[in-house]
Amino acid sequence: VGKHVRALRDAGYSIESAAGSGYRFVSAPDAPVPAEVSRLLRTDFWVRLEGGGVTDSTNDDARRLAEAGAAEGTAVLASAQRRGRGRLGRSWTSPEGGVYLSAVLRPALRPADLGPLPLVIALGVARAIKALGASPQLKWPNDVLIDGRKVAGILLELSAEADAVRWVVAGVGVNVDALEGDAAPSATSLREAGAQAGRAQVAASVLDGIAEAYREYLGGGFGPLADEWRARDALAGREVEVRDLAGDLIASGRVTGIGPDGRLLLETRDGPVSVPTGDVTLRR
Ligand code: BTN
Repeated sequence: VGKHVRALRDAGYSIESAAGSGYRFVSAPDAPVPAEVSRLLRTDFWVRLEGGGVTDSTNDDARRLAEAGAAEGTAVLASAQRRGRGRLGRSWTSPEGGVYLSAVLRPALRPADLGPLPLVIALGVARAIKALGASPQLKWPNDVLIDGRKVAGILLELSAEADAVRWVVAGVGVNVDALEGDAAPSATSLREAGAQAGRAQVAASVLDGIAEAYREYLGGGFGPLADEWRARDALAGREVEVRDLAGDLIASGRVTGIGPDGRLLLETRDGPVSVPTGDVTLRR
């Protein structure tokens, strides 16, 4: 018993002991540890949860598990990351106080049909954040904002053959606790938005939101989800620039919406354009 109590204390559980009268459970850690997250889940999609402590990158961990054959519904959780990765080769600052998780998905789709998947995952995260008491918007392709500031980012990575997807890893980072003073002014957190849930609850809500949106997408395509996405679209009607990985301009114009394939629709000087992927900035 002593050994198990030590292991639980190491994992952040608070347990009192008194000589002769045994142990008393005081509190669970405020961290996304699998044992706490799994009892808060509502969906039956998640078959295996790993991690919960500090790691380099949950996306790297999940990729390794996917390559080793881990089933769809496997997820890796972390309370901090040493080398968090963002979209377009950027880094993702991942201090204690956030929730970092990566899910292994194995959609029976062709790579060419995966266009809407980043938007589907973002919608799942937005639903979770709404359930936690905040009011999220979506910035194409998959940033989640509150009051125009980023609260969660999503990094999708995949392995595929020409006509079959082997695995997708969907990585999500959510700012939960109030941000440090040196955080980007364009970032916010759930606490700053008034949502008080603990980090295990945030992780469970995000996993449930992803599972539900993903299942709806596999069952009925993006069409039934697209209107919900549009209702949260932070870019609709805005003047923007879209750039590629190298920072080169792909298109610039006014956002008219998103297409049924998840593309960003723009009205440019040369007429309507649809963009499959890129990084959007608002034009002054
Ligand atoms: C972005 O907005 O640029 C995407 C950020 C994605 C960060 C998450 S945190 C969990 C997972 N592990 C990583 O290294 N990155 C993703």
